[in-house]
Amino acid sequence: MSVEHPVAELPAVAEPVPGPRLPVPDRDGAAPVVQPAPAHETLTDMQDSDTPPLADDTPIARAAQAAVTAMARVGDPLPRPAQTRVIVVANQKGGVGKTTTTVNLAASLALHGARVLVIDLDPQGNASTALGIDHHAEVPSIYDVLVEGKPLADVVQPVIDVEGLFCCPATIDLAGAEIELVSLVARESRLQRAIAAYEQPLDYILIDCPPSLGLLTVNAMVAGREVLIPIQCEYYALEGLGQLLRNVDLVRAHLNPALHVSTILLTMYDARTRLASQVAEEVRNHFTTEVLRTSIPRSVRVSEAPSYGQTVLTYDPGSSGALSYLEAAREIALRGAEADAAAEVSYAAGGASGVYAQRPHGLEQHMDQQHSTMEGNR
Ligand SMILES: Nc1ncnc2c1ncn2[C@@H]1O[C@H](COP(=O)(O)OP(=O)(O)O)[C@@H](O)[C@H]1O
Ligand SMILES: [Mg+2]
Repeated sequence: MSVEHPVAELPAVAEPVPGPRLPVPDRDGAAPVVQPAPAHETLTDMQDSDTPPLADDTPIARAAQAAVTAMARVGDPLPRPAQTRVIVVANQKGGVGKTTTTVNLAASLALHGARVLVIDLDPQGNASTALGIDHHAEVPSIYDVLVEGKPLADVVQPVIDVEGLFCCPATIDLAGAEIELVSLVARESRLQRAIAAYEQPLDYILIDCPPSLGLLTVNAMVAGREVLIPIQCEYYALEGLGQLLRNVDLVRAHLNPALHVSTILLTMYDARTRLASQVAEEVRNHFTTEVLRTSIPRSVRVSEAPSYGQTVLTYDPGSSGALSYLEAAREIALRGAEADAAAEVSYAAGGASGVYAQRPHGLEQHMDQQHSTMEGNR
């Protein structure tokens, strides 16, 4: 139930200390690489990292080791899905790590060799910013796709830092789309249609939803098969989760029978607090199969990266945040491969493909009661 990192098992590697960050190299046709890690300046910075102490236990030596570990892992390809996995990153609460999770998982998957598209569906455009994609008002964006019917191919841009990663940006125009969509034909399925018409081969599409359950989020849920819910390991974490799950059920019942909650990721996990482990335990008790083993620790590097237009994978590949997102991406890819294999067996046997576990009965109710339970335990 806690953060699990393979770092502790790896041998110490004596490597040159990483120097100052370099400009992003031209990566034309090159194998996936990540930028060198910035040297940590203070011990406080290094407390961010889960790297075990070395004999030569200095912050810089630890940063060097962690960066080397991360770089070794990114070259390691993961199984590719049998068909494009469209993953909707949703939680109507703001600030739970939706955007951070979307961009860092997307970058992790791309660094593992997958072709990944991030669709920024939040008018704030935070995912576009974090991927270094310009999103001022004139940039062709997801608004043009949803409201004007422009092909997705006309607005998708490559992310220069990470090969195989693409972004469909959001501009502030999208703020009006919730209302403009209401009067349009097929208002709930416009994103799904745009994706269906997009011919580029992709392994994953990750959709970063706004913090609401309006028409934009409904469009995402109609377009995807999987919902990934980031849950912040803090007080009030589970409040409103029942509402989100009911929305998933409604969309499944009326608009998209394939939709299901496939993944729950615990974010901003602070191992020092009892509350974080309490929240994690509650979530794991009730979402037995959906919760990833890897949780994302609270990490200064994760929160700094967007201000450099970067994911934490390129900003500081050796940080605990980068390693955790790489590990979470690995879990997601491996679970997908298992699901593909199960679907094949089920297809061969002529049965229905109940590949992913359904939520236990009565969970929504439980989630709505969580807030009071947590309060009682405090
Ligand atoms: N693991 C983390 N450690 C530290 N800060 C984080 C972490 N994940 C997210 N944050 C910060 O928390 C804030 C909210 O995250 P964000 O991904 O924008 O949430 P959302 O998209 O759900 O609103 C941002 O400032 C982000 O940098
Ligand atoms: Mg966001």
